[in-house]
Amino acid sequence: MDSFSKIIIADPMEASVVKGLQGLGTVVLTPKNLSAALSDADVLIVRSATKVNAELIESATKLKIVARAGVGLDNVDVPACKAKNIQVINTPGASSNAVAEMTIGMMISLLRKVGYAHSSMLSGKWEKKNCTGNEISGKTLGLVGMGRIGRLVAAKAVALGMRVIYTDPHKASDLSYPYFASVDELLPQVDIVSLHASMPAGSPAILNAKSISKMKKGSYVINTARGFLVDEAALISALKSGHLAGAALDVFPSEPYSGPLTKLDNVLLTPHIAASTIEAQERIGDDLIAQLRQKLTA
Ligand code: MLT
Repeated sequence: MDSFSKIIIADPMEASVVKGLQGLGTVVLTPKNLSAALSDADVLIVRSATKVNAELIESATKLKIVARAGVGLDNVDVPACKAKNIQVINTPGASSNAVAEMTIGMMISLLRKVGYAHSSMLSGKWEKKNCTGNEISGKTLGLVGMGRIGRLVAAKAVALGMRVIYTDPHKASDLSYPYFASVDELLPQVDIVSLHASMPAGSPAILNAKSISKMKKGSYVINTARGFLVDEAALISALKSGHLAGAALDVFPSEPYSGPLTKLDNVLLTPHIAASTIEAQERIGDDLIAQLRQKLTA
């Protein structure tokens, strides 16, 4: 096969990536009726917005490949694809650095109250005294998950003077940092916990009322992984009581998010943009194009 007959890109992607994909077949961009457009497509490319479920692919009789431009497959029903002999591919490493940089940026911004100070100035105030923060240097950062992103966060944090410790739901994967066998053993030791575990959608929250209660008073939570990893009610209660000093969240149990966290002063919230850099999106595109080209020649 020289080219695909129809490649559907269901979610917005960088123009350079679309151009690259056009070299592999006829590209249809964000069709209004995706289900109908899929009836004669052989490739479907999605980011996180489109939910690829059994119903969507029911009449996609020619579909051979679902490509997730990104890491998480929580919006793709992989067993349903398998049942229809549709291959699922993704780009696991392409956005790791973007997410790691965002994690470090959010951590510094949270401890220095940058988000609060910015909103306060926009409302006409000059709150110098209320905006005294903390430094990350010398603090203990606990990572839950030491995969591609966790390792990059660890290296950057150490370069900034932090002590890094970790746990991993899968295994002790990087013995150059102190390893704790469970989240419950890790949490009492940390000043800041950052989540980088890849868990299937619907897994129980890693941070819930019980586990948060094990954290030191005045500690911080960072989540750039998935919203369901944190129990929102427990987090809000700990942020309101002052048990937690703050939380920086890029991901939410349901997105787009506009819930009660938006009413708190001690949070820093962003709309799931940790992987959204031009560089990462270009790497994702290059990776996808290379994988699809290989499928054509296989
Ligand atoms: C991913 O899984 O690739 C990231 O969460 C980024 C995204 O979904 O947009």
